[in-house]
Parts: sequence; C-alpha cells; structure tokens
Amino acid sequence: MTAQNKKVRIAVLISGFGSNLQAIIDACRSGYIPNAEVCAVISNRKEAYGLERARQAGIAAVYFPLKPFKDQGKSRQDYDAALADLVASYRPDWIVLAGWMHVLSMAFLGRFPGRVINLHPALPGAFPGTDAIRRAYEAYQRGEITHTGVMVHLVPDEGVDVGPVLAQQEVPIYPSDTLADLEARVHAVEHELLPTVLRKLVLGQLQPRQAAAEQRTNPTT
Ligand code: GRF
Repeated sequence: MTAQNKKVRIAVLISGFGSNLQAIIDACRSGYIPNAEVCAVISNRKEAYGLERARQAGIAAVYFPLKPFKDQGKSRQDYDAALADLVASYRPDWIVLAGWMHVLSMAFLGRFPGRVINLHPALPGAFPGTDAIRRAYEAYQRGEITHTGVMVHLVPDEGVDVGPVLAQQEVPIYPSDTLADLEARVHAVEHELLPTVLRKLVLGQLQPRQAAAEQRTNPTT
C-alpha cells in the first residue's frame, strides 16, 4: 500500500467453480481480510462459474484463453506474458491462483516475484497436479496415508504445487468417507485457510520473504 486509504488489491485467477474465489470475496466484504478488495477475476475457461460470481459481485471478470495464442502459432510464454500484462493492468498487490489450471512460466511469474500465491488441496510434497483429492482418497484406501490436507504456498517458479509454504492444515480421512465426503471436508478447510493467509499477509503477520528464506534453509518442508 502506498497511501493510507488505498485498499490492498487482490487479483484472482480461476478455471472453474470459484468457491475459493467466493470465500475471498466474502472475507474482503466482511472485513475479515481488512482493507482489501478483489480487483479482478481472470479465467482461462469461458464456462468457469467463478466468472459469474465475480460479475454478481460487481468485480471485473475477464475470460482470457490460451487457444487464440496457440492458433496463431504463439507459445505458452507469449500467452503468459500477455496474461501478465492483463493482470498488471489491475495493479494487484497479490495474485491468488484459486483453482487455476494452467502452469505459469517465468514469463508471468517473473513479473510478480513473491506475490503469486497458490492453493493446493493436499499437503506439501503430496499429490502435486490435478485430482489431488481423489488421489489422496485412493491412497488412503490402499492404506498408504492416514490423512491428507491443504496448503497455501508462494509460486516462485514453474514447479507444480511446490514453493515456500505460507500455511498448511491436515484434513482427516475416515473409513466411512465417500470421495464426495472427503472433497467437501477439504474444500471447507480451503475456504478457511486461504482467507486466513490473505488476512495475515495484509496485516503483515506473515512475511513471504521469510517463508521463502525458511524454504531455502530447509527445502523438505
Ligand atoms: C480447489 O480444490 C483448489 O485447491 C484446486 O482446485 C479447486 C478449485 O475449487 N486447485 P474452486 O474453483 O475454488 O471451487
């Protein structure tokens, strides 16, 4: 923040349902994330319901697909650089990947060092990539794990679902769980953990640089 009354601006990148986006919007509106607003919602999928959530909340909602770039023979880096231009035009303080299904290259990440945050529905080092909840559920059925979790981390580079951890929380799995039960439990934790991290970042109670430094000291965490 440069001026005292300026709100902290959060851009949210989505690809789907947008329930975590909604949790952020609600937390900004209620003041749980103090003095902050969602300044833009960008989706790489047209049908993403999160775009509708943004519109209903009076927030800029932009569909920004990769396909036209591919059709013109352009690279993912070209797309990522154009996406960075688009995101930068909203002057965000933080960029949150909330169900964003596209691995960002340094053409994007290099523009926002230490300011891109990802939500992953598993614990650090566990089940990177898509379908993490289902894979955790199946691993539990095979007796390989006793619980799963949720993490929020910085995105320093092109690694998938890795980076300095800002917060993590275990989620239990019970023998009677269906996959839908586990999904609901994981999402409920996500909807609390992500706003909690953003609240702490806005309040200065969480220092991304410190998280990054700790990660360098102890890369297994
Ligand atoms: C969340 O589980 C998130 O962790 C994962 O994709 C899901 C997005 O859900 N990366 P929603 O679009 O926020 O409802």
